[in-house]
Amino acid sequence: MSGVNEIRSTFLDYFVRNGHSVVQSSSLVPRNDPTLMFTNAGMVPFKNVFTGAEKRDYVRATSSQKCVRAGGKHNDLDNVGYTARHHTFFEMLGNFSFGDYFKEQAILLAWDLIIKEFGLPRDRLLVTVYHDDNEAFGLWKKIAGFSDDRIIRIASSDNFWSMGETGPCGPCSEIFYDQGEALRGGPPGSPDEDGDRFLEFWNLVFMQYEQVAPGERIPLPRPSIDTGMGLERIAALMQGVHSNFDIDLFRALIRAVADATGVDPDGPMQASHRIIADHLRASAFLVADGVLPANEGRGYVLRRIMRRAMRHAQMLGARDPLMWRLVPALVREMGAAFPELGRAQALIEETLKLEETRFRVTLTRGLAILDEESRNLHEGQNLSGDVAFKLYDTYGFPLDLTQEALRARKIGVDKDRFDTAMARQRAEARKAWTGSGEAATESVWFAIKDKVGATEFLGYEAESAEGIVVALLRDGVEQDTLRAGEKGFLVLNQTPFYAESGGQVGDTGILRAGATRIRVENTVKKVGDLFVHDVVVEQGEVKNGMALELEVDHERRTAIRANHSATHLLHEALREVLGDHVAQKGSLVAPDRLRFDFAHPKPVTDQELAEVEDIANRVILENAPVATRLMAVDEAITSGARALFGEKYGDEVRVVSMGAGARHPFSIELCGGVHVSRTGDIGLVSIVGRSAVAAGVQRIEAKTGEAARRHLNAEARVLHDLSGLLRAPVEDAADRLSALLEERKKLERELAEARKKLAMGGGAASEQPIQEIAGVKLFSRAISGVEMKDLKSLADEAKQSIGSGVVAIIGVAEDGRAGVVVGVTPDLTKKFNAVDFVRLASEKLGGKGGGGRPDMAQAGGPDGAAADQALAAIAEMLEQRAAS
Ligand code: ALA
Repeated sequence: MSGVNEIRSTFLDYFVRNGHSVVQSSSLVPRNDPTLMFTNAGMVPFKNVFTGAEKRDYVRATSSQKCVRAGGKHNDLDNVGYTARHHTFFEMLGNFSFGDYFKEQAILLAWDLIIKEFGLPRDRLLVTVYHDDNEAFGLWKKIAGFSDDRIIRIASSDNFWSMGETGPCGPCSEIFYDQGEALRGGPPGSPDEDGDRFLEFWNLVFMQYEQVAPGERIPLPRPSIDTGMGLERIAALMQGVHSNFDIDLFRALIRAVADATGVDPDGPMQASHRIIADHLRASAFLVADGVLPANEGRGYVLRRIMRRAMRHAQMLGARDPLMWRLVPALVREMGAAFPELGRAQALIEETLKLEETRFRVTLTRGLAILDEESRNLHEGQNLSGDVAFKLYDTYGFPLDLTQEALRARKIGVDKDRFDTAMARQRAEARKAWTGSGEAATESVWFAIKDKVGATEFLGYEAESAEGIVVALLRDGVEQDTLRAGEKGFLVLNQTPFYAESGGQVGDTGILRAGATRIRVENTVKKVGDLFVHDVVVEQGEVKNGMALELEVDHERRTAIRANHSATHLLHEALREVLGDHVAQKGSLVAPDRLRFDFAHPKPVTDQELAEVEDIANRVILENAPVATRLMAVDEAITSGARALFGEKYGDEVRVVSMGAGARHPFSIELCGGVHVSRTGDIGLVSIVGRSAVAAGVQRIEAKTGEAARRHLNAEARVLHDLSGLLRAPVEDAADRLSALLEERKKLERELAEARKKLAMGGGAASEQPIQEIAGVKLFSRAISGVEMKDLKSLADEAKQSIGSGVVAIIGVAEDGRAGVVVGVTPDLTKKFNAVDFVRLASEKLGGKGGGGRPDMAQAGGPDGAAADQALAAIAEMLEQRAAS
């Protein structure tokens, strides 16, 4: 008997021997297809290779692809647990030819594998072909030697496979295994084909077309092959069991459920065991691929899956959260083939535990209400939609959980009424927003949000993806098209572009489709969670409903990640150095720098900053993992996560921790931003500036990685140039410069002294500065190169030296402006007022006013060339006043 792990590797090895490249399973969240909620078939990651939009360096591939079918075209959720074959999560083994081999080789390879490698008995096998595919019919006859009755022609869509509303498609041929008469059911195409006896286990799709729109199909560039074999099904066949839930992998998981609950897995509660085992796989793999429970989109499908399992855990009598305790068993079974499970184990366990803890609080109460409200209902009747809505809204019961709980009693739910109640609640929520004042200018966004719902953000996991345009705006008005050269806003159903929030700037990048090229200049959030791209159409045009390839500017995003993570490290380092009172007051995370404002009463010293920088860089060098988890707010805060005071958080928050010690990380913060995956990715952090922004609020600015290195290099170059100019080695430059400055001060002092001396009588003897006018001594002099501030002390000295009289000194500065000071000795202040003299002089110098006291006044004017006229005017005034 072959275990699941052996079957998987036998399949892959076989195709490798036949020239195929093994391709690792892609994420469950399809990056290359905006129309799909989850990867639901092995070919999804290759969609663009089939259509020719993308080239790979191989033309044959094989994979074991993780698939989820819950929501969208292939939705199996309701059946899971009650049938032998349905799963929310399963693995699809496949081999692919991209324009290389076609039907004949595909059938040959398939037949060879199932007969020679898997050893299935040929007389149990039969196949179907699309009704008009004579070629496939002939090939099966030739290769397998089947008689005509073992090749069944099917006309229905069962034998024409397509991945969704659009995408590659083509006729297919399915391989069946007859499990024998003991099981009920007829061959494919017969009225009772749905029975379990004839089991379809491999689908060979002859990919020939691309469905580009409903009703519009074009041929693929070259015929190709896509096959899909359910791993769980082939394992059931090879292990001789009739239900997928009896294969080794599921038995191990179910055993873990039974061990934890003590309930017989094969007794009356069998379905609950199966549901839990199945949903455990879907939940764990989705979380590992970055989906977290939410109330919208993919996150809501995950929540529905989790809660459905959790209700069954409760039915099995589990007193405490159960799901998270099963994760180790899953990692044991599947961790080798899917290393992401082991890597995300802690996150998976925490997410399951949190969800189950929270759901259990309302589950019992909700179930009691459901019992009460449905007590008087009979088979065929409906539960009121209002009750179903209350269960949803107050007790967190997804509609399908309520439906399922009533299914055994054949009671339905009034879904129309449920939808009405839901719509009413949305309208009320909108009114509440409208009342907040933001709405007047933003009403257009409310209308769009109502129509298209919240944007799904893919940017934690991916920087490129595909999305569908759901709204376009130009000049604030909705449009159908934006053309080349036009600016506007664009909303997508999903996006990897981060919208500005929490201090982190919005992403920029490029959107493309065929000849269309659009530049995203910024991304912002509107009405909560509508991501709005601020765009310019550079080439072609964009229409509503178009699918676009979305590409964030990777280099810029990488720098932003590093800066955001560095902000957390600096925050924690500041607390270590300055104390616990340091609280974040604001931050900016841009690609080229980061800014962090924090409460601290006094300026931070050089010494403190150096310590902060050292600590942050030490954590960077540790290259410790950066982990993101989803937690309940209160739990996150008790665990020590830093939260912003006054910030409004939802019920659940992202918690980012970084630095060594899984249990005691260096930093834990509530944060919705993007981060590096290891601290080493930051490279280096350098604090490049500091200031005080308000009383008690300090600011630091820093750079990381390449920007920090460039900044430090530029500074080093400046230092090098300085040391050249100073003719001193770099390490002596500071001493040398301070000696030079000292010397300069001394020289300035000496120069001022010399100028004063010159002014007070030095110079040519003919330029005697003292004259007598009407018996009063007048010391008058115009000097250049003397500062205004020195004029007064010169005037004082002159007053002393003449003993009695008037002193007038005009200083003309380098720029030609003049200052004038007039002094009157105390014995003459009754007769002469210094202020009158300076006013007159100032007028002559082209100025106005002037002021001071009767014994000393000063003024100035722009016209230093008129200094002599000004002095002459003073002499004239003195003469008149002396005479009067
Ligand atoms: N893509 C095909 C399927 O999912 C093989 O069945």
